[in-house]
Amino acid sequence: MNNMNDQDFPVFDAKAFDDWANSYDTDINREAGFPFEGFSAVMNEIIRCAAPKPGMHILDLGTGTGELAARFAGSGCLVTGTDFSSEMLKVAQQKYPFINFQFQDLLQPWPSALSGKYNRIVSAYVFHHFPLQKKVELVQEMSTHLEPDGQIVIGDLSFGTSTHLNEARQHYGEAWDEELYWVKAEALPALKQAGFHSTYKQISFCAGVYCISPFPG
Ligand SMILES: C[S@@+](CC[C@H](N)C(=O)[O-])C[C@H]1O[C@@H](n2cnc3c(N)ncnc32)[C@H](O)[C@@H]1O
Repeated sequence: MNNMNDQDFPVFDAKAFDDWANSYDTDINREAGFPFEGFSAVMNEIIRCAAPKPGMHILDLGTGTGELAARFAGSGCLVTGTDFSSEMLKVAQQKYPFINFQFQDLLQPWPSALSGKYNRIVSAYVFHHFPLQKKVELVQEMSTHLEPDGQIVIGDLSFGTSTHLNEARQHYGEAWDEELYWVKAEALPALKQAGFHSTYKQISFCAGVYCISPFPG
């Protein structure tokens, strides 16, 4: 972290993620407990919901070390993964040299290099850095880069209700990181109001997957 932006929410700088890049895969593979409990099941649900087919164009936002991007590439998709951490991108590119990885800061205007249309825009464990209003604004921006039958799939740290979130916060005490976790009961109405049909599946006590489609206009 650690600046505030003009919408007054804490902004994480890329340096923290640069420092995490080389040990990140060890952390996600450990899975047990907060925050990565259910990580591979979240990946599986994103794939199930996105239903990739060979030749589909996929954009993976906040790709990190490229794990989700690689799953889509393994299904024969044409994948672009983006991130604002140069070290995360370096690790991803070393692991998966056949995937197109590019720099993108999600809090900055959409880069012209990503001006194409995508069948699926996906993201995992990224949007909890942004408040709900910004999450919805990003979904709106993403929807303008979708093919007509396109879909957005977001897996992230997410709780069914604020009560569930508070229970986890109390349970983990000092080990809890205070970030802007999704709360399904607030997110689904906000997405609906913004013009999206969304479904949600809780995967572990702290993570879930949102499948989001624009209402036919
Ligand atoms: C917890 S990691 C998740 C990585 C990967 N998606 C996964 O599921 O393993 C969060 C990632 O989001 C990226 N990130 C955070 N804020 C970002 C922003 N404003 N723009 C682009 N990437 C961002 C970080 O650099 C990091 O790679």
